Amino acid sequence: MKEMKNNPVCKLFGTELPIVCGGMAWCSGWRLAAAVSRAGALGVIGSGSMDAGLLREHIRRCREATDKPFGVNVPLQAPHVERIIDVVTEERVGAVITSAGNPALYTQRLHEAGCKVAHVVADSRSARKCAEAGVDAVIAEGFEAGGHNGRQETATLVLVPIVRRAIDLPLIAAGGIATGEGMLAALALGADGVQIGTRFVMTDESSAGDAFKRLCLTLGEGDTMLALKRLSPTRLVKNEFYRMMDEAEQRGATAGQLEQMIGRGRAKRGMFDGDIVMGELEIGQAVTLVRSIQPAGEVVGQIIGEFDRALERLCERTM
Ligand SMILES: Cc1cc2nc3c(=O)[nH]c(=O)nc-3n(C[C@H](O)[C@H](O)[C@H](O)COP(=O)(O)O)c2cc1C
Repeated sequence: MKEMKNNPVCKLFGTELPIVCGGMAWCSGWRLAAAVSRAGALGVIGSGSMDAGLLREHIRRCREATDKPFGVNVPLQAPHVERIIDVVTEERVGAVITSAGNPALYTQRLHEAGCKVAHVVADSRSARKCAEAGVDAVIAEGFEAGGHNGRQETATLVLVPIVRRAIDLPLIAAGGIATGEGMLAALALGADGVQIGTRFVMTDESSAGDAFKRLCLTLGEGDTMLALKRLSPTRLVKNEFYRMMDEAEQRGATAGQLEQMIGRGRAKRGMFDGDIVMGELEIGQAVTLVRSIQPAGEVVGQIIGEFDRALERLCERTM
């Protein structure tokens, strides 16, 4: 890949490559963030599964492990979000990726502390709200993505050009991108960079449980599904937990009943502790494109190699 100094995402975050590792609850701690940042992309600590004290520890450890830029993901619906925002501003984290909430809530405060802010959306209306709220970049995350998802179920191939038309900010595509070919496609659609989650779950440095990582290697087409639509649509592995929740939804269970069935700690039990039967396992459709667990730095290098070769092939074919 040629010099990307003028790429809007690289300029914004001070990275060499326009690749962001999605901040992922239970999967992206300081080890993964530091490994991705060392490889020239933006590593992101997922604060969604941390309290304020643990997040501070992860930020400090990441800083010890690399002098490259890194970020923190902050899901805005978290009950202790105020304390999380205190920590990222006190620690002067360079990049904050907010998600699942109103982008206007903390953007100004984060800017005052010197943080660059990108917000995750799944539709063009929310993207316009981001622009009004003054965020620095928008992450457009499509239906294929692992984890929480939009209600419109718009796939990345359609979402990215719609959002591109709606806003003039640096645009990062997410959802279903796990290879250099996918990254090239996203850039062709109008994105300036990509955010990748699923592929980085399946790395040595991700804190996902070993049993979960091993299961991911075996998953094929149709093995993940958008579930929990009555609560908060989430792409999950179709295990026993998924089937239990799906049956309850089909029977007409209320949001309250569903919440009660999930109980506390279900995501930790699945993704971190590795209960692949009754735990909540979030992963994207792209899981089926990944057939090995590798070091995260190697993954970044491979994606860039694939990108370059795909671009070359495309030029040869179209010239
Ligand atoms: C296991 C897992 C956990 C995730 N947790 C979060 C989270 O806490 N906050 C967030 O904004 N996005 C979260 N995401 C979404 C990712 O940050 C990223 O946008 C998404 O994975 C991109 O799509 P892909 O999975 O197809 O690569 C999660 C994704 C996965 C796979």
